[in-house]
Amino acid sequence: MKQISAKLAGEISLGKELSVHRLGFGAMRLTGDGIWGPPKDRKAALAVLRRAVELDVNFIDTADSYGPYVSEELIAEALFPYPKGLVIATKGGWNRPGPNQWTHDATPDHLRKAVEGSLKRLKLDRIDVYQLHIPDPVVPFEASVETLAELRDEGKIRLIALSNVTREHIERARRMVPIVSVQNRYSFADREWDYVVDYCDLYEIAFIPWFPLGAGKVAGEVLNEIARAHQATPKQVALAWLLRRSPIMLPIPGTSSVEHLEENVAAASLHLTDEEYERLAAVPELVASR
Ligand SMILES: NC(=O)c1ccc[n+]([C@@H]2O[C@H](COP(=O)([O-])OP(=O)(O)OC[C@H]3O[C@@H](n4cnc5c(N)ncnc54)[C@H](OP(=O)(O)O)[C@@H]3O)[C@@H](O)[C@H]2O)c1
Repeated sequence: MKQISAKLAGEISLGKELSVHRLGFGAMRLTGDGIWGPPKDRKAALAVLRRAVELDVNFIDTADSYGPYVSEELIAEALFPYPKGLVIATKGGWNRPGPNQWTHDATPDHLRKAVEGSLKRLKLDRIDVYQLHIPDPVVPFEASVETLAELRDEGKIRLIALSNVTREHIERARRMVPIVSVQNRYSFADREWDYVVDYCDLYEIAFIPWFPLGAGKVAGEVLNEIARAHQATPKQVALAWLLRRSPIMLPIPGTSSVEHLEENVAAASLHLTDEEYERLAAVPELVASR
């Protein structure tokens, strides 16, 4: 049987300070339905996190709003004391007041409280990577970033990152503080943020695609065909495309199942041919032409 290890995806540097395997885990799906409340099966959620680490996953993405708080609490329960080298990247600035609801709050006051809360739940003295979850339309972007920079100076955050941002946001933030990663929605079939990926590539900023397994009907047809040729699954092909898109890509597929986790991590060793890569890259045009 093929070895399953996130190591096979290679390494990626975060701000030249930390290095992680280039296939991480997204811990949003461990909560209850609607990213709300506890998981239906708590034991299974804890098992997924422990299995991820066994498979050499050493980058876990979460947020205070997943549950809310549930995802961070599960991570600490499953993995604390943390194995050496495990990087937990959490986020703040986007709250979860009810199932499937989001509200902004990236005010300095809220971000300070959010960081304190995450430190407590994750049982950490310092958060390795803290991501502004999304810019708040009623708070000056610089005020949110400045707060994170202050929290870094105070030793509560090690590295600062952004999520759901444009290139302009990244440039504005980088004038104030180093930005180590950007997390936007992205997959081979969903390429709105291609220009942000290219920008991150240029400046060696990690790009973390969320919803990395997303694919519509037409994309599914192409995926299925390529998957059959590799005796792989369509989800593995979608991940292999991302890993090949750029060395700064750090996918974080999310799942609540050990079986799906193993399938996703196994994609670290799947290599597409040039032709397969290009066929998948052309899917958005194919969709537009139908
Ligand atoms: N920054 C942001 O605004 C933002 C937004 C959304 C997500 N995220 C982060 O990105 C991570 C990934 O995004 P995502 O969870 O939306 O999308 P995803 O990883 O593309 O997809 C997750 C969905 O796919 C299913 N799945 C996973 N692996 C599978 C497999 N091998 N076979 C079949 N189904 C599979 C999961 O269900 P099962 O549980 O049944 O496997 C789940 O419903 C999240 O966990 C979170 O950490 C960030």
